[in-house]
Amino acid sequence: MRGCRRSTPRRWARDSLGCVVIRECEEQDLELLERYLPTGRNRAHAAHFRRQRDGHWSLLIAWVDEIPCGTCVISWTGPMHHDVRAALPDCAELCFLQVAPRARNQGIGTALVSAVEERAMARGLPRVGLGVDTANPDAARLYQRLGYDDTGLTSTTEYTLWDESGEGHDLVEIDRFLVKELG
Ligand SMILES: CC(C)(COP(=O)(O)OP(=O)(O)OC[C@H]1O[C@@H](n2cnc3c(N)ncnc32)[C@H](O)[C@@H]1OP(=O)(O)O)[C@@H](O)C(=O)NCCC(=O)NCCS
Repeated sequence: MRGCRRSTPRRWARDSLGCVVIRECEEQDLELLERYLPTGRNRAHAAHFRRQRDGHWSLLIAWVDEIPCGTCVISWTGPMHHDVRAALPDCAELCFLQVAPRARNQGIGTALVSAVEERAMARGLPRVGLGVDTANPDAARLYQRLGYDDTGLTSTTEYTLWDESGEGHDLVEIDRFLVKELG
């Protein structure tokens, strides 16, 4: 694909998955993205793409054999939570990292995190941060292995998650903010 970078994940299973390509989302990708990584009534990919078009975010997609298998967002305007942003203004935030269940544990999440770090370094930013749900120790283990340290900052987010039947679930998430110094 034009202008794409190939990356080799940590536990690359070449025979089962093929080659991973990570690139910024383009408008024509949204339909496939929603089909393979559905967000239901939230239509989150389209909303994230609009922020990319405004220049505030980048929406990255990991493709395997031209199928979207994972995605994440980079916020270039600093951490989304105001208290965290006030404490760490020169920090790109990695958010909404997800890999399709059937493609997990093969290094795609790691490859997406690396792609975020490369883009942040290319913009001259000193650090990347991310919030991890206190109820998600598996993800926290991944980030800590990749060099992300706990800052002691926390944030609380309340949101509604719409399931495939159209039912809304009001959720409260408490995140710990982790940071990695680049360079
Ligand atoms: C977290 C996630 C993006 C990792 O993607 P991945 O491609 O499986 O990641 P990698 O293969 O590079 O690394 C595997 C590591 O991911 C973590 N992991 C595995 N399954 C996970 C799951 N269901 N939820 C969260 N983390 C998970 C573990 O730390 C695992 O390493 P280990 O079990 O060997 O210690 C993916 O599991 C996912 O989409 N989870 C659901 C959404 C989520 O929790 N996102 C993180 C928000 S902060």
